[in-house]
Amino acid sequence: MQKKDIDWGNLSFAYIKTDKRFVSNYKNGAWDEGALVDDATVCISECAGVIQYSQTVFEGLKAYTTEDGHIVCFRPDLNAARIEESAKRLEIPVFPQERFLKAVDEVVAANEAFVPPYGSGATFYLRPVLFATGPVIGVKPAEEYQFRIFGTPVGPYFKGGAKPIVIKVSDFDRAAPNGTGHIKAGLNYAMSLHAIVTAHEEGYAENLYLDPKTRTKVEETGGANFLFVTKDNKVVTPKSNSILPSITRRSLVQVAKEYLGLEAEEREITLEEVKDMAECGLCGTAAVISPVGKIVDHGKEICFPSGMEKMGPITQKLYDTLTGIQMGRIEGPKGWVHRIK
Ligand code: PLP
Ligand code: COI
Repeated sequence: MQKKDIDWGNLSFAYIKTDKRFVSNYKNGAWDEGALVDDATVCISECAGVIQYSQTVFEGLKAYTTEDGHIVCFRPDLNAARIEESAKRLEIPVFPQERFLKAVDEVVAANEAFVPPYGSGATFYLRPVLFATGPVIGVKPAEEYQFRIFGTPVGPYFKGGAKPIVIKVSDFDRAAPNGTGHIKAGLNYAMSLHAIVTAHEEGYAENLYLDPKTRTKVEETGGANFLFVTKDNKVVTPKSNSILPSITRRSLVQVAKEYLGLEAEEREITLEEVKDMAECGLCGTAAVISPVGKIVDHGKEICFPSGMEKMGPITQKLYDTLTGIQMGRIEGPKGWVHRIK
């Protein structure tokens, strides 16, 4: 199969239109059969629920070319389960999980020419979306929806790839205490746009959001969960019911315990104790593990001993093991790597 003429090694995290996407529509209480289509545009009512009241949820997962030339996806069953939780919270009809998984396979297979080759540093990012297409003017759930999965080849989420970044403690909140921080709803990201633009203008790569209730505990960034390594080599990640349950973070905790023999714990982490951590990283599908070298809290700098040049040693081991599993160099736990081709 002839790959597209793309400079794989220099891709950024940006959208490139690919050949096929899967689309299914919900009407009269049922999802239609759905199909792979060529049209990358969506034509909906000006009064669609997604436009009026942001009734939309999404997912993010990647397909990889393995060392031995297969194309695989990483734990797509967890994305299928998570979008179901997200949909229920926004009163969107669930798209059946087995159909979600089949559509992932179809979209990847139909866009094989866009799946970056092994060793290129790029991956094929899949974006499932589920949104209200039916008109609503009173505040209520719509009656019609679309489920769509498209994909795009991507490079690193943060410029510089594995170079440590500097982030700031934000004065904005990302999620309310009993709100929607734990689901992947578009509205959470709309909420974060002013904060991220502000952070970028000030020279920071991302925001550290604090817990909205007490503003003393570390939550997450706009697009990734935190992972810290303590000075005695323990992996710790924030526990909160207003952060997204990251599939990458859950996988890394298991990798830390089962592959690296480390202690790993999910617990509340105060901003106060962050200065005592040895390493810090942001983890997510897009971010993979992006090392954080420095956190700035209103002029006060928290500099991690791992420095601004490279990832800390434990973060590096976690990164190597996780990407080794994803790219087929290391055998993953049962069910983690789903082969498509
Ligand atoms: N937190 C937020 C706010 C995100 O947008 C993402 C990305 O999906 C994550 C965390 C990481 O989640 P995952 O590892 O499942 O991609
Ligand atoms: C992902 O990692 O899949 C995300 O959705 C994060 C987003 C900010 C790109």
